[in-house]
Amino acid sequence: MNLDRREFFRRGSALAGAAVLPFDAPRSARARSRDGLVRLASNENPYGPSPRARDAMVEHWEEASRYGASALNELRDAIAVAEKVPQDHVLVTQGSIEGLCATAAALCKDGGEFVHASPTYESMHGYAERLGATLVPVPLDGGLAHDLPAMAAKVGARTRVVFVCNPNNPSGTIADGAALSSFCETVGEKALVFVDEAYRDFVDDPSHRSMVPLALAGPNVVVARTASKIHGMAGLRIGWLIAKPDRLARIRDFKMGFPNAMAARAVIASLGDQEYSAFCKGQNARARRILVGALDELGLRHAPSHTNFVFFHSKRDATQLRAAFEPLGFAIGRAFPPLTDWCRVSLGTPEEMTGFVTALRKVFA
Ligand SMILES: Cc1ncc(COP(=O)(O)O)c(C=O)c1O
Repeated sequence: MNLDRREFFRRGSALAGAAVLPFDAPRSARARSRDGLVRLASNENPYGPSPRARDAMVEHWEEASRYGASALNELRDAIAVAEKVPQDHVLVTQGSIEGLCATAAALCKDGGEFVHASPTYESMHGYAERLGATLVPVPLDGGLAHDLPAMAAKVGARTRVVFVCNPNNPSGTIADGAALSSFCETVGEKALVFVDEAYRDFVDDPSHRSMVPLALAGPNVVVARTASKIHGMAGLRIGWLIAKPDRLARIRDFKMGFPNAMAARAVIASLGDQEYSAFCKGQNARARRILVGALDELGLRHAPSHTNFVFFHSKRDATQLRAAFEPLGFAIGRAFPPLTDWCRVSLGTPEEMTGFVTALRKVFA
């Protein structure tokens, strides 16, 4: 077979088996966890980077010998186009985690309070706490969404950051767009509102709103985004922040490094591949219907998911449940205190979810 390398990458997964779909998931054992389990634990995209992104890394491999300033500048410009924001309102980071932690360092290096929902994504407030900030957790409401009025009530003179993960991880819920906008406007007068929109691309609900327009309008809103989810590049470590340039300049001072040029080339290509993003979103919705249908059948309550994972009330200890799924071939999410009898399952391919549902029925028989 006389395939050049580019063509090999383009057709790699199709060669591994009969592909019925326009795009296929990586099939190698290495794309699963080291122990061969189907990975439903870290909210990754089972389809990986788009074929165009894979091509871009091969095409630009010689840039690996340089520090990558031009690739990173081109990436910043491509993000600005995709997000419809000026270029100087974008800061590219090593995964969005670097943006979360650099912002925590800029704001909380000498203490103060950090208000966040509970449970929510923990990287930013965990880092802030290690820097000396006092955490102010606010329980999610009865529907497992952010309780914005309760959070606003906790904001005081010592508050430095208010973290809103929208959609929220681990619950998968969204905040009402109008309510969150007015929250950002009023709370933003007293403290920085940091809105993590890692899962925004999976949302269809018209009541959801991105806070990017507010990040452009006001100095006290920062939005975080990532290439790890819909773009399928969790291992390539690219994220970005959107905020006013003077705010970004203060955050930039606390960055630890800069991303690699190959990853930048891959994300530039992926941002231009809307067909692939739509494919991943559609497959995710199919996978979600399979899981949610089975949970409903089993009478297991679940939070309304707008993401690539589903949080359900297992009524069993999450750590023990995780151990029960491993022998059946599935790695699922860890415990999310204080809701330790709830369980987060990331969505794989529809085929993987069909297999998971069989395991679910066994465990809950
Ligand atoms: C809400 C949220 N923000 C940020 C991240 C980190 O993403 P990245 O891979 O961009 O560092 C995750 C990862 O799961 C997440 O769930």
